[in-house]
Amino acid sequence: MDVDDMGQDLERVLLDREQIDARLAEMAAQIDADYAGRDLLLVGVLKGAVMVMADLSRHLHSAVEMDWMAVSSYGAGTSSSGVVRILKDLDTDLTGRHVLIVEDIIDSGLTLSWLLSNLRTRGAASVEIAALLRKPEAAKVDVSVRYVGFDIPSEFVVGYGLDYAEKYRNLPFVGTLAPHVYAD
Ligand code: IMP
Ligand code: MG
Repeated sequence: MDVDDMGQDLERVLLDREQIDARLAEMAAQIDADYAGRDLLLVGVLKGAVMVMADLSRHLHSAVEMDWMAVSSYGAGTSSSGVVRILKDLDTDLTGRHVLIVEDIIDSGLTLSWLLSNLRTRGAASVEIAALLRKPEAAKVDVSVRYVGFDIPSEFVVGYGLDYAEKYRNLPFVGTLAPHVYAD
């Protein structure tokens, strides 16, 4: 799926696939340098982080391990409540591990803040966060994100793993939807 398939449903492209890929390559170089000589476990947060995980990890030069978690915030709609439930936990024991959480986006930061403290109770040697996108709201919560791809405006975005009503995850770019999509 790409721009041409979106018809009138696309408002605008914020980040195209080349911009995303170039930035992920830079982030991977930084991660390679920071974790040189240490085994790294990437923890992807389902479902949104699938694309970031796939592309970021392939830019890395080290043989990392990957695991996945699925979490859901209680509360409906497009905002996060901060109360998080684990839908799928890790298969990996974190004792002594260097863990890098891979996320699509930080909005309120509540999900990641919760996840960070949860994983830190499991005896990991270190837990850091890499997120492709960050919205201004995130500044209000004290969650330190070691690697950020892009700071974006406070708008609802889709594509590259991010969904609206479970759709548009398979767009290769990040963009906004035309207002009529939400109204339909
Ligand atoms: P937070 O707890 O508010 O930081 O929420 C983070 C989660 O909400 C992300 O992992 C996404 O799944 C979802 N989310 C936040 N903003 C957007 C957006 O603009 N588009 C799609 N999903 C979003
Ligand atoms: Mg997510």
